[in-house]
Amino acid sequence: MSFKEIQKEKTAQIEQILKAYLPRVQGYQEVIMDAMSYSMLAGGKRLRPMLMQETYRMFGGTDRVIEPFMAAIEMIHTYSLVHDDLPAMDNDEYRRGRKTTHVVYGEDMGILTGDALLNYAFETAASAFEMAPEKSLLIGKAIRILGQKAGIYGMIGGQVVDVKSSGKKIDGEKLEFIYRLKTGALIEASMMIGAVLAGADDESVQVVEEIAAKVGMAFQIQDDILDVISTTEVLGKPVHSDEKNEKMTYVVWKGLDAAKQEVEHLSRKAISDVRALNPKDDYLEILLESLIYREK
Ligand code: IPE
Ligand code: IPE
Ligand code: MG
Ligand code: MG
Ligand code: MG
Repeated sequence: MSFKEIQKEKTAQIEQILKAYLPRVQGYQEVIMDAMSYSMLAGGKRLRPMLMQETYRMFGGTDRVIEPFMAAIEMIHTYSLVHDDLPAMDNDEYRRGRKTTHVVYGEDMGILTGDALLNYAFETAASAFEMAPEKSLLIGKAIRILGQKAGIYGMIGGQVVDVKSSGKKIDGEKLEFIYRLKTGALIEASMMIGAVLAGADDESVQVVEEIAAKVGMAFQIQDDILDVISTTEVLGKPVHSDEKNEKMTYVVWKGLDAAKQEVEHLSRKAISDVRALNPKDDYLEILLESLIYREK
């Protein structure tokens, strides 16, 4: 099988896990379950659950205790997108190839859908305690990472500085701070949780955190590049959103060519660091390599 075929199959398996963990559409509040599914089951790349699963396997994990965490990280990521698109933030009307959640369900439900996904992520992750009570200590550690990396020292913190910096000139140090937090943190959580649940030691988890930080930085720079050079049809979200919101991006800071070079440089470093961990299969490396050339 080619990389593309394997990736397609893995993505389909992840979709099944996500579906299984979404709440049933029922009760007076059913509109919220409906909106959760609408935002979650639109065509995302599922990169974070995939990185989590691959890191879990790389450290010898074999059982299904990883699955509620794969669903949880995608819920948190999806909530971050639903809120990122709100009129008060980036004010975008397309996401994952469809109208954004607030456009379809209204701004009130857009806010509540984000809240609901964030909360449900932790309900979902906590279900791992019943699945594998003998792993309670590791599960507790993983939930803590999920909370920290999604919160004020992670994704939310990055979004705060991003939004507050709109229309302003900021230096490279602040820009890298924003990227590490708003995008890097959830990618760090994904890979760290995979390692933790597989029983990796603290030193290895720290190595994984640093690898993921590089992956996250490269991923956000590529996102900025695509915002300039791609099309809405390919991306499934509006292009030139950054320009519209007067965002200082890596592309604005260093130019398109230097940005592309940085994506390649960071990704190659991450790949060689993964190789140094002696993984038993090379899928993770190939996945990271594919991100250098990603078009969506
Ligand atoms: C978009 O993330 C937001 C960023 C952090 C750049 P993705 O590009 O992973 O979005 P989906 O999940 O594939 O829709
Ligand atoms: C957002 O960065 C990262 C998040 C935490 C949601 P962007 O605002 O560049 O993400 P897109 O381009 O809308 O996906
Ligand atoms: Mg944004
Ligand atoms: Mg945005
Ligand atoms: Mg963007």
